[in-house]
Amino acid sequence: MSFDLVLFGGTGDLTWRKLMPALLQAFRHGKLPEGGRILAVARDERSDDEYRDYIRARFADVEAHMRPSDEEFARFAALLHYRRMDLSQAEHYAGLKRWIGQPRAEEGRGGGPADTVVLFLATSPNLFPVIVDQLGGAGLNGPQVRLVLEKPLGHDVASAQAINRLLRSTFREDQALRIDHYLGKPAVQNLMALRFGNALFEPLWRRESIASIQITLAESIGVGTRGDFYDHTGALRDMVQNHALQMLTMIAMEPPGSNGADAIRDEKLKVLRSLRPFSPETVARDVVRGQYKAGVVDGQAVVGYLDEPKVPPGSRCETFVALRTEVQNWRWAGVPFYLRTGKRLAAGDAQIVVSFREVPHAIFPGPRSANQLVIKLQPEDGLELRLLAAKGGRGAGEVEMLSPVSLDLDFDKAFPSDRVGGYERLLLDAIAGRLTLFVRSDEQEQAWRWVEPVLQAWTADPGGPRPYAAGGWGPAAASALVARDGCTWAEEQ
Ligand code: BG6
Repeated sequence: MSFDLVLFGGTGDLTWRKLMPALLQAFRHGKLPEGGRILAVARDERSDDEYRDYIRARFADVEAHMRPSDEEFARFAALLHYRRMDLSQAEHYAGLKRWIGQPRAEEGRGGGPADTVVLFLATSPNLFPVIVDQLGGAGLNGPQVRLVLEKPLGHDVASAQAINRLLRSTFREDQALRIDHYLGKPAVQNLMALRFGNALFEPLWRRESIASIQITLAESIGVGTRGDFYDHTGALRDMVQNHALQMLTMIAMEPPGSNGADAIRDEKLKVLRSLRPFSPETVARDVVRGQYKAGVVDGQAVVGYLDEPKVPPGSRCETFVALRTEVQNWRWAGVPFYLRTGKRLAAGDAQIVVSFREVPHAIFPGPRSANQLVIKLQPEDGLELRLLAAKGGRGAGEVEMLSPVSLDLDFDKAFPSDRVGGYERLLLDAIAGRLTLFVRSDEQEQAWRWVEPVLQAWTADPGGPRPYAAGGWGPAAASALVARDGCTWAEEQ
């Protein structure tokens, strides 16, 4: 299958920081289909070779093991092309269409146009309307075309709906691929495999056996140079509306009838619709927002959010959110789901902790069994099952004591050569037309519907976010939130 992948925003951050390394990895792994071309589009004048040099120089910034040798880069670079485009000019889209349609016997596709055209909008979202309009005008929306969009897709329900209306005016739903890069993380696919490829867990995956679920997406980094973007966004829009909620749907969904994209997305949508809606009172009770102050992270002194570049003085933007919610259906009624995310926390750790109920009747002294299944997303991906076991070595007449132990699965060790990174997976899926890991418009809008009352309650609330010291785990109120149910966060256990 031949493909053309067009990267709008071809000189931008997302392209060289994430997409190019992911494409290089796919190339290395031999996973890019034959007969592919990658066309970067941006507004400066450059030749293909100048663009290749530009990307080559950018690879100096990626992690050492990702850096290509000259020989490898030269082979990869043969796929790269560049085109200058003014995104508001119809004739530039007509030129793009000609480029896509031009016969290229020399590129090993029998001289025809590509079977698949993936248009990746790695630009600022305020350019989406003009690009989508122009693509439609140029007829670049045929059945072989897929459009990939990066977040942020809207900042509330109305703006998300407006984007979806715009997309529908030109593309079919199954041509519009909304990226949530957390869905590309290997641990998330393993979560599906764990739940639906094994008979072991599913009977336990319900309120009768599960006491609580914690989803933590913690970052030790601050907002860096993105202060202006971040200040209009905040942690709720940046991480909860998308990544954290997508993780929640993966945990809470019913087993789908098949692994087809819509079968899975229908089930995820049902979860989003079953989340307990927020009112101003429950926002005050069940949602904690925070903002980091100066502190020490990884032994380094760091400034507070208000002193970060491009952050307006006195900003009330939240850099931390912890909340409690419930999925209101028969499987999950009454089970607390805690979501937590923040910048400048003690560690860059993303994990989901499923806590099981205690044994109904304890016959051993010592701690009562409180099994946990930990799904680790970052920095490594793996699974840990925490159990209690007898230590052994007791003397005659001594009472058996239980100690915590864990069964650990490190996916890097289990599948050493086969790991596929998040963006690599999503790009390959976009090229192959596998839609499961992309977010459907109704899911995206429903997620906005659920977070919007929180945003409204915060706007109406004269109090701002609670301060927390960089390098900790957020405001003390976040611990109080879970303590109400007799729970603690993972790092407090
Ligand atoms: C992005 C957010 O979607 O996800 C960033 O905009 C955040 O603020 C990033 O840092 C986290 O992604 P990851 O994969 O590094 O955990």
